[in-house]
Amino acid sequence: MDALGTGPGWWHGATVYQIYVRSWRDSDGDGYGDLRGVIAGLDYLAWLGVDGIWLSPTMPSPDDDWGYDVSDYLGVHPELGTLADLDLLVEEAGRRGLKVLLDLVPNHTSSAHPWFADARSGPGSAHRGYYVWADPAADGGPPNNWRDSTGAPAWTFDAASGQYYLHNFLPSQPDLNWWHPAVHREFGEILRFWFDRGIAGFRIDVAHGLYKDAALRDDPPAPAGHGLLTGRSGLAQVYSANRPQSHAVFRDWRAIAESYSPPRLLLGETWVGDLDRMAAFHGHGDELQLTFNFPFIFADFTAAALSGVVARTLAVLPAGECPVWTASNHDISRFPTRWCAGDERKARLALLVLATLPGTFVLYYGDEIAMTDVAVPAGQRRDAMTADRPGGGRDAARTPMHWDSSPSAGFTAGGARPWLPSGETRGRNVVAQRGDPRSTLEFCRDLLALRRAECGGTITAYRELPGAPGVWSYQAGDLLVAANFSDEDVCLPGLAPGLLLSTNPGAARPGPVTALRPWEGVIARPYRRRTA
Ligand code: NOJ
Repeated sequence: MDALGTGPGWWHGATVYQIYVRSWRDSDGDGYGDLRGVIAGLDYLAWLGVDGIWLSPTMPSPDDDWGYDVSDYLGVHPELGTLADLDLLVEEAGRRGLKVLLDLVPNHTSSAHPWFADARSGPGSAHRGYYVWADPAADGGPPNNWRDSTGAPAWTFDAASGQYYLHNFLPSQPDLNWWHPAVHREFGEILRFWFDRGIAGFRIDVAHGLYKDAALRDDPPAPAGHGLLTGRSGLAQVYSANRPQSHAVFRDWRAIAESYSPPRLLLGETWVGDLDRMAAFHGHGDELQLTFNFPFIFADFTAAALSGVVARTLAVLPAGECPVWTASNHDISRFPTRWCAGDERKARLALLVLATLPGTFVLYYGDEIAMTDVAVPAGQRRDAMTADRPGGGRDAARTPMHWDSSPSAGFTAGGARPWLPSGETRGRNVVAQRGDPRSTLEFCRDLLALRRAECGGTITAYRELPGAPGVWSYQAGDLLVAANFSDEDVCLPGLAPGLLLSTNPGAARPGPVTALRPWEGVIARPYRRRTA
């Protein structure tokens, strides 16, 4: 039971599939994925065996940050569909036993949001206090040293009022002022609006960001080695984000979520560098039910690094709280590229580990076919925030889903040009892999079926077992997992249980496991003594 006495939620032991809607399936041939496309793909997801989907932003937006700049929190982006389409999607997903999570962006709005348009109209406007405004510093420059996610000053001057407004992301994403009570009321209503429509919960964007320091103190320099988590500012976001007051917001939202039956889910994008701070977002079992684990995501792909983060995560989470395991998303390089350099053996090993750790497994679209990043040429870049980064920036992980090997990857109907290039589609696509017992897709499906049978609805007990160097072995509930993160064959002395699943398609099942090939992982069940 959790602190609120409601028992474990459906997400314990569940698999959630993240859909970057614009890139998954285009139903109307305009080159952009859409909600009707998601509906058309629900049978595939039910076949794959996931429990829920998280849709990246679906709300109206000018798309400076592809939906993470919301101009209406109660609507659906016309390019993606209508509110009726979303209702239908929830209904159709429900018929297949799938929950639907939306993305909520409470740290900032679009500058096109009517609140900001009003706020900008002058210091006396009704919504001025919804945003963070400050007078210039003595030299006329920005009020402090805060930097936005591109590394530029986080303040933009508003000549009409002579003040600056804050944006931790693009200038067209002004930060909301969570010190203002009306902002709390607005988001309470937004939550209820969607929960009333049957939305199972929210992934909460920039959950660590909501409150800013009231005195606007300068951020200190980031400690060495924190690059991935501090972005390009070189500063630790001690005052421009990560303020303790945000916890009260999540307690309020948790109470709202728990007032529904079944309780709604709050999954935080807790982009923090240390696990204690991540765990703090669970409160005493009364804040966010789930938090993304960025130290795990950014760990090296070695047995020692990953098992170390897992052990520390399990040690710091409050008892009964559910960890989240994921390794790809729309902001970072896909793990088959980042961790595995395209090697499909390694990608399967990663899937095997992600799916057997205790907690919620979040799969990013394409992970199930070991889809890799696509180097998007300069002229075809769509992400303003990373447009100057080599290799494709965030666009590289947002390219169309590979349904088949046609030039448009089977993503779009009617020969339209996909909004981002599809890249090389041969081999790693659904049509090529479905039905092939040696494929990563079929392996992933078997893995999810095994996971559902063994861990659905529970957080399995995890115990690390001694292993050879480079081998990560653990007990997960009743299962044994052994993962060889090395280029060598390894013997598994003493481990001779019945094999249930191997990342190596040639492995004989059932049978004892006594050795692992390079980058092979296995799930096995201990032989039980016969009882008379
Ligand atoms: C995190 C989102 O995942 C990312 O895509 C977005 O650019 C920022 N938050 C700002 O909303």
